[in-house]
Amino acid sequence: MKVVAGTSSPLLAKRIAEALDVPMAKATFKRFPDGEIYVRIEDVDEDAIVVQSITSNDDLVALMLMLDALEGVDVTAVIPYMGYARQDKKFNEGESISIRAVARLIESYAREVVTVNIHSKDAAEHFKKLKEVDAMPLIGEYYSGRDVVMVSPDLGSYERVKVCAKHAGCDFDYLEKRRIDAENVEIKPKSLDVEGKNVVIVDDIISTGGTMVEATKMLLKAGAKSVECACVHAVLAGNALNKLYSAGVKEVVATDTIEKGVSVISVAKAIAKVLGN
Ligand code: R5P
Repeated sequence: MKVVAGTSSPLLAKRIAEALDVPMAKATFKRFPDGEIYVRIEDVDEDAIVVQSITSNDDLVALMLMLDALEGVDVTAVIPYMGYARQDKKFNEGESISIRAVARLIESYAREVVTVNIHSKDAAEHFKKLKEVDAMPLIGEYYSGRDVVMVSPDLGSYERVKVCAKHAGCDFDYLEKRRIDAENVEIKPKSLDVEGKNVVIVDDIISTGGTMVEATKMLLKAGAKSVECACVHAVLAGNALNKLYSAGVKEVVATDTIEKGVSVISVAKAIAKVLGN
């Protein structure tokens, strides 16, 4: 058994290999002058664990080529961040169900698929052999012992934040969110008294940062002492991080499902545990 690190998850792959005490395979990635990707994987025997988050179209192509290079090998695909999961149904006639296409592709190669907090139940249901790791306990433990209250930016993330707050040992609540368009949201409090409190907003994904920025503004206006943002997947599209800090966010933390500077909480051991079962 060897761990194969994909282009998007080199550090997490290494951490998973260390947690499982198995070696890394040699993987070579190149780009041809026309932009096409080349993949070669050497020294793999009967089984392998491929670790590759899907944060871009290139990541998806690299994953497909890695799986193809491992022809004849028993492969477990660890996709820490499962991109394309937000298009989990047809919202309009004629649309593709992106996550269904991704699920079909991965499962045509892999015996088993492991991911971390996939965006929705609907997205998960497009897979036949999916195991899901919940990173909320890990985020909760990161804040354990700190004088904070946690909020979910919407009702959709409320159950996740409940788990997170339980592990942090703190109070929690949720905010009501109304999406104006793809990039703008308006947030109103439900029944939260945040005055003088250190608030941690917890979500599964920070993408454009729009949700967190609006929530932060509202919480600071309501008298919060400080606002921090925590998420599983630091997509951080464009200048999302600048927008967050400019809005007054004290700190942003995430897990290493996407490897960014803010990815200080590792899901490696939690993934290794699922792989060991
Ligand atoms: C929405 O359902 C998700 O849980 C996140 O709230 C959303 O993806 C965050 O996106 P953005 O950072 O672009 O507001």
